[in-house]
Amino acid sequence: MSEVPQATGVPGRFPPGPRLPATLQGARWLLGSSSFLERCHQRYGDLFTLDLAAKAALGPAADRSQGRWVFVADPAHVKRIFTADPAVVRTGATNRFLEPLVGPRSILVQDEPEHRDQRKLLLPPLHGERLRGYGAVMSEAAEAELCRWPVGEPFALWPRMQAITLEVIVRTVFGITEPSRLEHVTRALRTMLDRMTNPRWLFAQGLLATIASPPSDRLRGAARRLVGPVEEVILDEIRRRRAMRDLNDRTDLLSMLVQAEYQDGSPMSDRELRDELMTLLIAGHESTATALAWAFELLLRHPEKLARLRDETGSDEYADAVVKETLRLRPVVPFVLRCLNEPMELGGHSLPAGTWLAPCAYLVHRRPDCYPEPLAFRPERFLDQPAGAYTWLPFGGGGRRCLGAGFAQLEMTRVLQSVVSRAELVPAKVKPEEIRARFITLAPARGTEVVLRRRMGVR
Ligand code: HEM
Repeated sequence: MSEVPQATGVPGRFPPGPRLPATLQGARWLLGSSSFLERCHQRYGDLFTLDLAAKAALGPAADRSQGRWVFVADPAHVKRIFTADPAVVRTGATNRFLEPLVGPRSILVQDEPEHRDQRKLLLPPLHGERLRGYGAVMSEAAEAELCRWPVGEPFALWPRMQAITLEVIVRTVFGITEPSRLEHVTRALRTMLDRMTNPRWLFAQGLLATIASPPSDRLRGAARRLVGPVEEVILDEIRRRRAMRDLNDRTDLLSMLVQAEYQDGSPMSDRELRDELMTLLIAGHESTATALAWAFELLLRHPEKLARLRDETGSDEYADAVVKETLRLRPVVPFVLRCLNEPMELGGHSLPAGTWLAPCAYLVHRRPDCYPEPLAFRPERFLDQPAGAYTWLPFGGGGRRCLGAGFAQLEMTRVLQSVVSRAELVPAKVKPEEIRARFITLAPARGTEVVLRRRMGVR
C-alpha cells in the first residue's frame, strides 16, 4: 500500500483560492460542492487551491500542503497530470481513505508496480467479447425491475436503478443465478452500500474527516462491522469457486480471476481476490445507478431527445451519445485525485512534493471552448465529435482510468433502451433535480422522482 508523500523542500507558490478558514471552506463544500467549484473557477481561474479542512485529520506530523487540493480545470494541465510518470504523480495514496472498505490489496490503493500487475489481471474480464456477453444480463435485470414499478404514483428512480445495477454486478461478478443465494448476497451488499452512502453514518464514523489521513482504529472498527457480512459472502464464494471443476465454461468475473496468473505464474491469493471483488462491488454499482438516475432526469426534461432515443433503440449509436452527454453534464465523480511525489511546475506555479491535485471533470465539462453552450443537454454533440481523452473525464484518465468504463457505458445503454421502449415516464415535479454531494459522488437531490404512466409491451 502506498505511503502519502510528505511535502518537502521550500513550499511552492500555490494557485490562488478562497481565504476562508479551512473549516469554513469544508462546510461550504459540504453545503454545495458543485456551486462552490463553479464560483471558485469563475473567480480564480483554471488552477485554484481549496483547503477543505482535511488537515484537521492529518495530525501534527502532516505538512499543511496535504490539506490543500489544487483543482485543475484546463485540459492541457489535465493532460500533463494524466500522462506524467506514475512514480511522480501517484494515485494509490489519495485513495487510501477507501482502504478500510476495499482492503489493502485493492487496485484502488496500490501504486506501481503492484497496481500495473493487478490491472493486467482485471482488464480482460471487463473488455471485449466477455463484456458484450454481459449485455443480456443487463437488459434482463432492467426489464424485471420495470415490472415492479407502481403505475400512476410518484416514486424515486434512483433506488430502482440501484436494484438493477446491484443485481447486474452480483450476477456478472459472482455468476450467482440461484434465486435464494442471489437474494442472500444482494441483501448483505445492499445493507453495506446503504450505510456507506448514508451521510449520517459517514459523518458519525468521521469518514469524511479522515480523508487523506491514515485510517484511525475507530474507523477501522466501524468499517470492519460494515464490511464483515459481505466479506463472509465473498470468501464463501471464493471457496465454492475454487472447488468447481467447470471453471472454463463459466463466464463470471470471479471464475476468470480464480484462474488468472501473474507474470511469474502465481495465482491471486484469497486475500487479493477478496479485496478486488469488494472493489468491483463498491466501485461498480453505486456510480452506475447514480449516472442512470441522472440520464432519466435529463431525458424526461428533454422529450425530443427521449423520443429520438425511443425511435433508435435498434442501434446503440444515439444511446451511447445520451450516456456520454449525461456523464458530461452530470459527472457522478466530479474530480479525481493525484499526489505529487516530487515537485512539479504547473501553469507557472511551483508545486511542492506532497501537493494533491484534483483534475476536475465537473469544471472541464463546462468549458464553452470544449463544449459550445455547455449547459445544454445535447447528446448530438457526441455524434459529431468523439469524446476527448482530456476533455471528457467522467472516468478519470491515464493509467488509472476507470477499469469498468466500458461495463458502465454498456449497462447504461442497455438499461436506458430497455426502459424507454417499455415505459412511459414523466417527471413527478416541475422543478428539475438539484445536484447533491453524496459521499464522493454528485447525485440528484430527490433521487429522480417520476411517475410511470403506463407500461408498454409488458404485463
Ligand atoms: C458510471 C459509472 C462509473 C463511474 C462514473 C466511474 C468512475 C471512476 C473514476 C472517476 C475512477 C478513478 C479514475 C482515476 O483516478 O483516474 C474509477 C476507478 C475505477 N473504477 Fe469506476 N466508475 C464507474 C463504474 C465502474 C464499474 C461498473 C466498475 C467495475 C465493474 C468500476 C471499476 C473501477 C475500478 C476497478 C477502478 C480503479 C482503476 C485503477 O485504479 O486502475 N467502475 N472509476
